[in-house]
Amino acid sequence: MKPEPELSLQDVEDIVEVIHSNFGYDFKGYARASLQRRMLRVMDTLNIKTAGQLQDFLLGTDCAFNYFLEHITVNVTEMFRDPEFYKIIRSTVIPILASYPIIKIWHAGCSTGEEVFSMAILLHEAGLLQRSRIYGTDVNHVNIEKAKQGILPLEVMKDYTHNYMQSGGVHDFATYYSARYKQVIIDKKLRSNLIFAQHNLVADQVFNEFQLIFCRNVLIYFNKELQNKVVKLFYDSLAPLGYLALGSKETMHYTPVKHDFATVDKEKIYRRIK
Ligand SMILES: C[S@@+](CC[C@H](N)C(=O)[O-])C[C@H]1O[C@@H](n2cnc3c(N)ncnc32)[C@H](O)[C@@H]1O
Repeated sequence: MKPEPELSLQDVEDIVEVIHSNFGYDFKGYARASLQRRMLRVMDTLNIKTAGQLQDFLLGTDCAFNYFLEHITVNVTEMFRDPEFYKIIRSTVIPILASYPIIKIWHAGCSTGEEVFSMAILLHEAGLLQRSRIYGTDVNHVNIEKAKQGILPLEVMKDYTHNYMQSGGVHDFATYYSARYKQVIIDKKLRSNLIFAQHNLVADQVFNEFQLIFCRNVLIYFNKELQNKVVKLFYDSLAPLGYLALGSKETMHYTPVKHDFATVDKEKIYRRIK
């Protein structure tokens, strides 16, 4: 049996410091236990046994850090993830968005784009996609490159079709993509108003004003202080009466800007009221 890699919480601190000073990425505000689990997984895959070896690996070659960055973030995503959430977006938020001449939406931490493609479908079905600009950003540039391609594995489409129908979708979901061997490509028409770019919620600033911001299943990986900072960034990026949509395990309740938002729905949809 091969020995397990070892990494104490102090080792995690040291690696975080090495990453910050050598590559400029700041993971100080990430929840430690989750970061430790992810680092251990990378070590296990690469057969690295100690924190010292992990540091040597990171500083060894140009592509080592890119590999690390790709695997240190949790990238799990789905189209129409939490269908009930999309039902509320469809019934409550989209009719309000329809009143704007140009609709601007930001998906912060969009992973490989599935959430953005889902929103593009909702806007298309409401006849609003042509006047929408949807920005999908992520810290992980590998995710962004995948999102730009709009290619997904064929095997997940059955689940995504199910999610779509559960979310109230009534069209033929298969018309939104074309299958090629074991992959599908999302219809070009749906992707025409999508802009994917790298953006780091820890270090980067407001870059536009939006009527709707999604940041789902991202804040759970941050500590309280970083969550507060990022929620403030969203407040500053939202138009008056703009919407903020968080993930099912996330909440605005304990942040300093909680009184600036009203709860729209238990599906973690909030509205900027101040
Ligand atoms: C679990 S995925 C969530 C994807 C999608 N929002 C969803 O709910 O299906 C978390 C994403 O947050 C991104 N992320 C983590 N830290 C980030 C940061 N500092 N800035 C921007 N994105 C970040 C990760 O790269 C990953 O793609």
